[in-house]
Amino acid sequence: MLERVPGRFGPENGLNLQDTTRRRANQSLHSALAEAEERYVAANPGSARLQRTASANLPGGNTRTTVFFSPFPLYMASGKGSKLTDADGHEYVDFVNEYTAGLFGHSHPVVAEAIGEAIASGINLGAPSQGEVKLSAAIRDRFPAMELLRFCNSGTEANLLAMSAARAASGKDAVMVFEGAYHGSLFTFNQGASPLNMPIPVVMSRYNDAAKAVADIKVNSERLAAVLIEPMQGSAGALPATGEFLHAIRDASSRHGATLIFDEVMTSRVHSGGLQRKHGITPDMVTLGKYLGGGITFGAFGGRRAIMDGFDPSQPNALQHGGTFNNNVIAMTAGCRVMERLLSEEALAAMNGRGDGLREALNGLADTHRLPVQATGTGSIFGIHFHRGPLNNVEDIREGERGREPQMAALKKLFHFDMLAGGIYISRRLTANLSLMTSEAECAQFLAGVEEFFVNRGELIRAALGEVSS
Ligand SMILES: Cc1ncc(COP(=O)(O)O)c(C=O)c1O
Repeated sequence: MLERVPGRFGPENGLNLQDTTRRRANQSLHSALAEAEERYVAANPGSARLQRTASANLPGGNTRTTVFFSPFPLYMASGKGSKLTDADGHEYVDFVNEYTAGLFGHSHPVVAEAIGEAIASGINLGAPSQGEVKLSAAIRDRFPAMELLRFCNSGTEANLLAMSAARAASGKDAVMVFEGAYHGSLFTFNQGASPLNMPIPVVMSRYNDAAKAVADIKVNSERLAAVLIEPMQGSAGALPATGEFLHAIRDASSRHGATLIFDEVMTSRVHSGGLQRKHGITPDMVTLGKYLGGGITFGAFGGRRAIMDGFDPSQPNALQHGGTFNNNVIAMTAGCRVMERLLSEEALAAMNGRGDGLREALNGLADTHRLPVQATGTGSIFGIHFHRGPLNNVEDIREGERGREPQMAALKKLFHFDMLAGGIYISRRLTANLSLMTSEAECAQFLAGVEEFFVNRGELIRAALGEVSS
């Protein structure tokens, strides 16, 4: 259980340079948000300037939708350990951690040394190299469902390749996905299907609804090549699947000849061996990404030999899978080094235990203040929701917000601004995660920031959710 550390949140500890003026009681959500946004704009002229300059070349000044938030995102200048410094010199405890890829914190000496060695020995060798030999063995050891695997450059690519391999092997075309899923920017379903999605026929099912998923698999078995699932929906807000749901899908996929693909791009970090090991499930295929290249651009997909053998280039009619940087030397070298030196079962358990403690403490705090707020997630990944009652899937979130979408959006934005003002960097969608470098004291600082929000904004939370009149 995490201890609360009074006074850690705020400028008195030198943790942030921004003005954390005490909020006035009895403000409306609208005026509180306007004031918070004004304060944010005033404190961050350097980021605003960079955003304006970038807009000449990048649509909206942005090349990565995930990191954008209005009125302009913070531009980060540097990172060290568990901290980030922005373009205006403010320091933050990093709870974004590159959306889980930054598992090692910033400039970890082990990673820095590996990258230095890779660069010194040449990085564009145009041939197989020693790194991929070692890294593939280390990954296979940890994720035995990947009887054979291939590297690529991102989680997006890994998922597209896994689905394509399953479709090629089965001769069937459709893939089952779940409302709210994020499998990369070319296959995302967080607000229905994205218009950018690859034109793969989709069967949409409901997360954590075993009866519906099993029925959907059965009814569509003739055309279903694969079932693609995150064992915890990450960008939807850290919503874990129940073991019962995942086992039901495993059984139904086997019975009806669909390849079960676990997208563990995000969740492989929450347990040594990923959530598949935690739940005792062997998927047919697995996709990975994020931190496993030591924080360098990385992706991997693999699975049953019967499917992956199709990529064996010594065989006639082998599947063609090139990719200039599939075996890029920096990621392979850094990946091997972090597997050997940083990603031990003990280190992951400590980081994930710290995350469990923080989530438990956050939920305890919401109970103490009797507020409709909850932290979801597992291990080192969590999401914060303004919601009363169970949260099994995005439909539950939408149902809770129905009719009050503008107020809920304003409340989340206010929380985000207040946390930033207190020196805590989290995402606008209110998901967060820890790195190996996040300390207990920093978790306590996070908790203190949330408590300050509860104290100052408790009535606004209740009003936004319609529990008291606004
Ligand atoms: C579950 C999941 N799958 C796939 C991806 C896409 O990975 P990438 O951003 O490396 O393409 C992400 C990225 O956040 C993810 O969370």
